[in-house]
Amino acid sequence: MIVCKSEAEIARMRAANRLVADLLAELRSAVAPGVTTAELDTLAEARIRGAGGVPAFKGYRGYPATICASVNDQVIHGIPSQRALAAGDILSIDVGALLDGFYGDAAITVPVGAVSEQAARLLQVTEESLYRAIAQARVGNRVSDIGSAVQRHVEANGFSVVREFVGHGIGQAMHEEPQIPNFGEPGHGPRLSEGMVLAIEPMVNQGQPAVRVLADGWTAVTRDGSLSAHFEHTVAVTRSGPVVLTDRDGSGQARVAAAGIRPEAPRNVESRWRKRTR
Ligand code: CO
Repeated sequence: MIVCKSEAEIARMRAANRLVADLLAELRSAVAPGVTTAELDTLAEARIRGAGGVPAFKGYRGYPATICASVNDQVIHGIPSQRALAAGDILSIDVGALLDGFYGDAAITVPVGAVSEQAARLLQVTEESLYRAIAQARVGNRVSDIGSAVQRHVEANGFSVVREFVGHGIGQAMHEEPQIPNFGEPGHGPRLSEGMVLAIEPMVNQGQPAVRVLADGWTAVTRDGSLSAHFEHTVAVTRSGPVVLTDRDGSGQARVAAAGIRPEAPRNVESRWRKRTR
């Protein structure tokens, strides 16, 4: 069953989601060479509890921490540790919080110091695919329109989409129906309606899509050792279009609007065209 939220409930959901968004911004600026992911986790737990919230991941199926911190070839669910970040790493940070009875959930991947051009492009394409996906979260569309937008943009840019993990509905539970794959043909699955709140979260690999889980039982890594990126927003489906609840300043909202109207122009097509005309 998909739980639709009232306008008042969506307004209440802003608190948890705003907390997550603000925290991710703070974590992003705390990321630097030499910082450990355990330090980031400590900061995150203090901020969530300080705001009167509860870390959503800690204790969930035995998960031991507040954030997931996934470095380089780690896709998701990396457990914070004493590992110090190094310049050139990419770090995916996933945060969930429960506040005022509702959950918020979002993730970003950030560069540590200067990163390779390929890594920077992976981050950019993954985040773009998230905004294209969010632009599809409209009343009357179907669930697979979201994943199809992700897959199309990711593969047009030479990267691949992870199949084993999916996005999800979110509300008074962290994981609600429907599941939201990041791949597939458009026009399938449940129809989107007013009041649905969705955590949309593309996971994108530089190389092949296959992943495996390490012996810790959590950390998912790419099988081929290639880099992986993850961006997530919690989004409400409303009469007037998708609303990014994990937006801080309207910039996410503006990016959704741009992704919704921009015609498909994959980068590799553009550069082929540029080469030909040179
Ligand atoms: Co999620």
